[in-house]
Parts: sequence; C-alpha cells; structure tokens
Amino acid sequence: MHRKDFLRNTGFAAASLAITSPNKLFAAPTVYKVKMGIIGVGQRGLNHLDLLLRREDVDLLAICDIDERTLNSAKEIIAKSGKKMPEIYTGDSLAWKTMVEKKQLDGIVIATPWEWHKEMIIGSIESGIKYVGSEVIIGISLEDHWEVVRAAEKHKAQVMMLENVCYRRDVMAVLNMVRQGLFGEIIHLQGGYQHDLREVKFNNGIEVYGHGVEFGEKAYSEAHWRTEHSVHRNGDLYPTHGVGPVANYININRGNRFTSLCSFSSKARGLHNHIVKQGGENHPNAKVHFKLGDVVTTSINCVNGETILLQHDTNLPRPYSLGFRVQGTEGIWMDVNKSIYIQDKSANAHQWDDAKQWLDKYDHPLWQRWSKETAGAGHGGMDFFVIHALVESIKNKTATPMDVYDAATWSAISPLSEKSIDLGCQTVEFPDFTGGQWMFRKPVFALNDTY
Ligand SMILES: NC(=O)c1ccc[n+]([C@@H]2O[C@H](COP(=O)([O-])OP(=O)(O)OC[C@H]3O[C@@H](n4cnc5c(N)ncnc54)[C@H](O)[C@@H]3O)[C@@H](O)[C@H]2O)c1
Repeated sequence: MHRKDFLRNTGFAAASLAITSPNKLFAAPTVYKVKMGIIGVGQRGLNHLDLLLRREDVDLLAICDIDERTLNSAKEIIAKSGKKMPEIYTGDSLAWKTMVEKKQLDGIVIATPWEWHKEMIIGSIESGIKYVGSEVIIGISLEDHWEVVRAAEKHKAQVMMLENVCYRRDVMAVLNMVRQGLFGEIIHLQGGYQHDLREVKFNNGIEVYGHGVEFGEKAYSEAHWRTEHSVHRNGDLYPTHGVGPVANYININRGNRFTSLCSFSSKARGLHNHIVKQGGENHPNAKVHFKLGDVVTTSINCVNGETILLQHDTNLPRPYSLGFRVQGTEGIWMDVNKSIYIQDKSANAHQWDDAKQWLDKYDHPLWQRWSKETAGAGHGGMDFFVIHALVESIKNKTATPMDVYDAATWSAISPLSEKSIDLGCQTVEFPDFTGGQWMFRKPVFALNDTY
C-alpha cells in the first residue's frame, strides 16, 4: 500500500486521529489486563519492570535478557512484588525473537542497547505486537528511522519512544504555561543532554558506576556498549531528552516541523583525560581515540520560524542539567537558574522571578492527578508517566500520545548531526517522516489529566 493510502485508510490518519485521540476515548474505557513483555532488564529495564509490576491492569507475561546477573535482579524484584513469575527468555541474543513470536503480547517495552532498538521494534511489530514502547533512540542511521516508520505504518502499530523528560514536572508546568500563552508567541528554545557520563561510560565490569576505566567486553551495563558510540561517532548521540519537551511546546509534527539542522563539535579531551587520571597513562584505554567531541552543539530551524539550540555534553566534569530555555514574545523560562520572567507580570522589570511560584501555579493536571502514583518511580516520578501512557493507550486502543513520527523525528537528530559534522558543519535538510501529514495532525500530548 502506498504511504498516502495508508495514512488515508488507517486510524492514525490526521482526520481520524482526532477521533482516536486519547482524550476522546478515555471516557469509556474497557478495563482488562494488558499482556506485556520486556526486552532488556538492565539498569533501565529494571525500572520499567518495577513500574509494570505495580500496576493491577498489567499481566507481565515474559521478560528477556542475555545477562544472568541482571536477570537475577529482575527475578528478585518480581518475587518481592508477589506477582506471578513471567516466562524468562535468555541464552542467546535472538531469544527475544522467540519471545515476541510465541507470547502474543499486547505491548512490549524495549530497554536494550541503542544498536538493538530498530531490529527489536520492527521484529516485535512483525510478530503482531501493536504497541511498542522503546527506550530512547530508535535507530542508528537515518535509514533505520525510516524503516521503523514504514514498519509501523505497514502493520498499523504504535511505536512510542519512552521519552520520560516530556513528563518532568517543571517541563509539564511550562507546557501548561506555553499553551495558556504566558510566554506569548514562542521564538526560541534550548535543551540538551548535559550530564557528566564519565563514570557511566567506564567501570570495572563489576560495579555499574564510578569504578575503573574499562569499556566494551570488560565492562558492565552502559560501559559495555554505549562507550563504543563515543569511539566511532561524532554528533548529538542523545538528543531526545532535550528535544522531546521543546518539540511538544511548539507542536512539531502537528502543525509545525523541523526543516533543517546544523551541528558543530568541539575537540575531544574529557574521556581520555578521565582514563589517564583514573587508570594511569599506561592503561591500554589511554591509547583509544574518541571521535565524539566533548560538546556538540546543534541548531534546528522550524517551518513556523522558531529556532532550537541543543547541546550534547557528556564527557566533562559538570553538574547535571538539561539546560532548558523557552523564550517567547512575552517572557522566558530557564531551568539552570530556576527562573522565569514574564513581561508586565513578574515582580520587577528586567529581574527574574523564582520559577517555583509559576511552576506551582501552573502545575500540569497530569501531575495534580497522579502525583501519588509517581512516588518512588524513577527520575523524580516522571518515569511513571511513560509506562502509564503506554498501558492506557493499549487499554483504550488509541494512538499513543507520542507516536512513531515523534520518535523518528527526535531520534533522527543523531544521524543528521553526524552528517552535518562530517560535511564540515553544513546545514542539512530535515526529513519529514509524516509525509506532509504534519500540516493536518493535531496536538494530542497531555491535553488533560488522563495520560
Ligand atoms: N529514559 C531514561 O531516562 C534512560 C535512562 C537510562 C537509560 N536509558 C536508555 O535505556 C536503554 C538501556 O539502557 P540501560 O542503562 O538499561 O543499559 P544496560 O546496559 O544497563 O541494560 C541493557 C540490557 O540489555 C540487555 N541486552 C543486550 N542485548 C540484548 C539482546 N540481544 N537481547 C536481550 N537483552 C539484551 C543487556 O544484557 C542489558 O541487561 C538505552 O536505550 C538507554 O539510552 C534511558
């Protein structure tokens, strides 16, 4: 079927999306237990495991991982929950295929290394699973992203990237303020991933964080796989925590779209210096050449005239900050200094207000309703919402509030920024994964307090 015919004929076409939007259908929910599985129960997957086990509307039927140590942790968590032990698939790196083919799941959560995501998303869809929640980054190359979009379209499946920062409490309060026009017309946005990952990218193969300078085969968890990306790739390798929230502020893929992108990369020093400082200059890894620049800066243009600045900064000593800035004709929010200024409304002209008073006042209805359930969920509670949205979408048979077009658009920033840097920091065209439907699609993310 041609792509345009698909869009015309499926429930996910622009016109019918309004009918199937979460908010319309939530009124008459059919409550049943959704059959779920997880591929990858490492550091992140264990977190999703806990959230799925907490829910009475979920039957966790199967989990898959290839690492015995983390599977043991998963089994302990499941045993403690009092829930039935799911079937466990392991033994080789394609055990997940047997699981998705056999188990007839309603939905799957994927929390494996990035290089597995495309294959696992598409494999799950092809096995008949209609709802796939994938951890951030849905592919490596640009073509990977197209393949995921095409598979979702062909099989009428939902692919939701589990971009939890979209649900951070301050991020959502600002979304509320943006929608109520407090900042006026939005002009410029910033965000990024500014997180000192030196103790994540290296370890001793036993502890997850903060010991040793090994990576690859000798290392554990993310140091086992993520660091290779810093060796071989130079670009914004982790754009979605920064871009997801700002894309929601300006309705990307829903009346707006990214048109072009340009990236710059600094020199690479941080990872090498870390190895030398912690492991000595004779450590074999001191000879490794890291391609990833310490600070990668990306500018994106939007068809409606906004500009976005993203930064990827994971190799240097620094406190964590996603560096959000939302600036409009009437005011500005910056999360680093926790400040807001709204013209004619702030206490003093040209002076910041403490953001807290504004964020409390405009607390998003989702947080007001669900804050009790977020207690104990990861990353200050926001992780609750991604699993909640995925499960509720399955129960209500609706499109997920962030869909495959959002996932592809946000995640494709990685290969596009690599391409831009490769070309000597040239501006590259941003593909339109929606095939023109961005003009007709309506915003659906967090329109009320349901999911
Ligand atoms: N949204 C967030 O806040 C957040 C936080 C941390 C990680 N993540 C993302 O979560 C994903 C996983 O990261 P992590 O920190 O859990 O890494 P991890 O290395 O701790 O866990 C990955 C797991 O996948 C398993 N795995 C690898 N190949 C497999 C295969 N073929 N079949 C089955 N299992 C396989 C590994 O054994 C491991 O247990 C990544 O995409 C990462 O970027 C997101």
